Amino acid sequence: MAEQLFEQLAFEPNALFEKIIEDIMQRHFSVVPNFISQANIEALRNELLEAYENDVFQKAAIGNKFNEQIMAEVRGDFIMWLDRDSVKPAAKYFLDRIDELIDYLNRTCFLGIATREFHYAVYPKGSYYKRHLDAFQNDDRRRLSVILYLNAADWKEQNGGELVIYPNPSGSDNEIRINPWGGQLVIFESHLLEHEVLPASRERISITGWLKTR
Ligand code: OGA
Ligand code: MN
Repeated sequence: MAEQLFEQLAFEPNALFEKIIEDIMQRHFSVVPNFISQANIEALRNELLEAYENDVFQKAAIGNKFNEQIMAEVRGDFIMWLDRDSVKPAAKYFLDRIDELIDYLNRTCFLGIATREFHYAVYPKGSYYKRHLDAFQNDDRRRLSVILYLNAADWKEQNGGELVIYPNPSGSDNEIRINPWGGQLVIFESHLLEHEVLPASRERISITGWLKTR
């Protein structure tokens, strides 16, 4: 029955994307251990580190361009926005996979994702991002937040840097801690889940972005 439906829709069911959708429907977030291969993770990490060494990162701000503040007490990461047209091969490969996911979400969930924006992020040793929501007060286009960790294979649990998700907005109970293992992708509903980044004992790197309605 389901297969017939997929046939009518003329696209292949994708087990990984189905799992993501099921998780999001049940608990508003999904964790995918190996979204892309370790070889691709390594290539992405090298592209990020090269750009970081060339000093093309900027101090991350809070809010959007109408509401810009730099506050080290809230957020200590450095970012570089990925330009749609001039990305290097490993980032292009990742963004192509994200576009496949967007296409799948739009066909199956009618989420109406129209665009995406992604940046590299480097959290220097000891930096963090306090508890927050990703959808801005004056900009609610962000539907899904996506983070792919690019840390090396020797990242240890003791290095910290966990993403903490608060499923219950009013309390701190049942918080979920996610280690930033290289290759692991986390995706969650931007309007719903407050979260924070705990300090790490070494540099913590990722590619982070949002799937938006327009
Ligand atoms: C963010 C954010 C989480 C992470 O950039 O808004 O919450 O684990 N990142 O890096
Ligand atoms: Mn966030």
